[in-house]
Amino acid sequence: MTEQTGRLKGRSLALGITGSIAAYKAVELLRLLQSEGADVRVLMTPAATAFIGPLTLETLSRHPVDADVLSLQEDGRIGHISAAHDVEAIVVAPATAHWLGAMAHGLASDSITAACLATSVPVIVAPAMDGGMYAHPATRANVARLLEFGYRIVDPESGPLASGMIGPGRLATLSRIVDATVEALAAAPARAAARSDLAGRHIVVTAGGTAEPIDPVRFVGNRSSGKMGIAVAEEALDRGAAVTVILGNVSVEPPARARIIRAETAAEMQSALRALTPTEGPAFDVLVMAAAVADFRPRSPAERKVSRADGLSLDLESTPDLLAEVASRVGASASVSGNPRPILVGFAAETGSLDRAAEKLRAKSVDLLVANDVAEPGSGFGTDTNRVTIYAADGPPDELPLLSKREVAGLLLDRVAARLAARAPAGVSPASGPREERR
Ligand code: CTP
Repeated sequence: MTEQTGRLKGRSLALGITGSIAAYKAVELLRLLQSEGADVRVLMTPAATAFIGPLTLETLSRHPVDADVLSLQEDGRIGHISAAHDVEAIVVAPATAHWLGAMAHGLASDSITAACLATSVPVIVAPAMDGGMYAHPATRANVARLLEFGYRIVDPESGPLASGMIGPGRLATLSRIVDATVEALAAAPARAAARSDLAGRHIVVTAGGTAEPIDPVRFVGNRSSGKMGIAVAEEALDRGAAVTVILGNVSVEPPARARIIRAETAAEMQSALRALTPTEGPAFDVLVMAAAVADFRPRSPAERKVSRADGLSLDLESTPDLLAEVASRVGASASVSGNPRPILVGFAAETGSLDRAAEKLRAKSVDLLVANDVAEPGSGFGTDTNRVTIYAADGPPDELPLLSKREVAGLLLDRVAARLAARAPAGVSPASGPREERR
């Protein structure tokens, strides 16, 4: 037994074991989770029972093992449903390629997929398989889908495989799986508790990149997918807020429950923001400026398509700083009205270091600034995960671990909600913006 550190003291977990040779390691994982203080019950796929006997896991976990999706517990309850409702996280280790595919498609033919479908608690998945299987586009797509669900993936490692070959695919070191479980539970309160701490608040989120025309068919843009902004919008909606999304170019669908204002260019985003910040006072409680506003735009876009034969050189000008402009407009109306200024949240995509983040927070006069290093694996454009540091105007920076964008959104809105709660009660109602379109 390892030293009792108690990071999972009092926590209730389910450990899902699927049919991989690495299933034998699940016994040790169970012991490690228990040594951290967790109460663990075990779910198995039928294939897993060919690798390891349920009796071993039943004895060690001191709970009946659910290896049959059609079975009932002694008390008459359905095993995987009670697991889904009673535990605080589900750890699937090892997860086979087959199981990843079943989960990605919601095929509940075993107790583990069924429990995962029925639950809203964090799910941590540690795949193990042959390296070629893990690299196959089908498996990659299934892993990407699970990340979209907000599941945390503990990537396999390189080393000797059951096939005799050496390569990637080995189940992650057990301590990494335990650490990921600890982190998921630390981030969980934001998602697990059904909350309405943003009810009555109006939150404006800008999302995606802007596209600055060179001519009618070409533009200067950036690689933003809009996933982070959309995750914030979805989280805010789930927590009871009225949400307006000012939407640039995105690769994901915005939530149907939000009011959508389309803004292709920095200029359109600027007029949408101006319409929401009239001089008599802003029409929102919070602005989350997650959009990647293009920093440069062609000074004089051509009215007709530029011919390739003519060649092209661009004369670019800087775009105005929209966030700094909003900060100055809402600051001015707050000092006239005496009402508190809305909470302003900026983002900063940096490369190599976050040294400039604290200065950006100050220069843009925002309450919170979410900075990430887009050069870091898992934190770049288009990923479903992000490792961010949240800078605050009134406290030390908060370095978060690698999380799904939805988890980042949850932790960010926890901080926003705390600031709002310390202010006046809810009451600002949404105002309409330009080029409005309800979806
Ligand atoms: N932003 C903005 N208007 C711009 C550029 C950026 O409102 N013209 C906002 C972004 O939406 C983000 C924050 O400002 O919330 C920081 O963006 P970033 O591109 O990191 O900072 P810049 O001010 O553009 O500084 P730099 O180009 O030096 O990195």
